[in-house]
Amino acid sequence: SAEPEIARLNACGVVPVVVIDDVEVAVPLAQALLAGGIDVIEITLRRPAAMAALETIAHKVPEILTVAGTVVTPGQVSDVKQAGAQAVVSPGFSELVDNAMRAANLPWLPGVATASDCMRAVAAGRLTCKFFPAEQAGGTATLKALSGPFPQMKFCPTGGVSLTNLGDYLALKQVICVGGSWLVPGDAVAERNWAKVTQLAKEARETVAALRG
Ligand code: 3PG
Repeated sequence: SAEPEIARLNACGVVPVVVIDDVEVAVPLAQALLAGGIDVIEITLRRPAAMAALETIAHKVPEILTVAGTVVTPGQVSDVKQAGAQAVVSPGFSELVDNAMRAANLPWLPGVATASDCMRAVAAGRLTCKFFPAEQAGGTATLKALSGPFPQMKFCPTGGVSLTNLGDYLALKQVICVGGSWLVPGDAVAERNWAKVTQLAKEARETVAALRG
């Protein structure tokens, strides 16, 4: 894709999928990721604090690319745009959200897991998608099978991805990056253990660098 935001996800290789319960952690969390070499963050809309966290990071930590995740309704699209999201990820595909994303004019990675999902995404011109839930939907074998009929598609596999299997995904040429929550464990956030987040980010970035040579 020609979109610079997608190029940044690709360059980073790993996208931390983050659940934030308390807006107070937003800035130190984003800074901890940056310190470990990760300059993208997906903030999922799963808690009341998510929108404020997104807005805070977008304004106070401009070095990190802010991605809104778990966007499932058209109303959330305008809200995250207003909050300063630079890209949007959804767990699935819907024409309603596709239309809202067109109006918002932000890059969008809809989620796909089946051939029918891919047909709808391709019909809408959405060629870069989240593959979700990656491991539960059959992992690399399913992804390779989907690339048969859809060779033009690129994917960000997410769901059950971690340091132990990210190499299997990144080895596939149709994979631009992987996403996952393993990079920001809930207990590390609860304990404000930013050194741990930085260490996990470093490990992931070193693994990506080693795989890409
Ligand atoms: C997501 O929405 O992308 C998933 O919750 C992330 O999956 P994981 O927790 O298995 O990494």
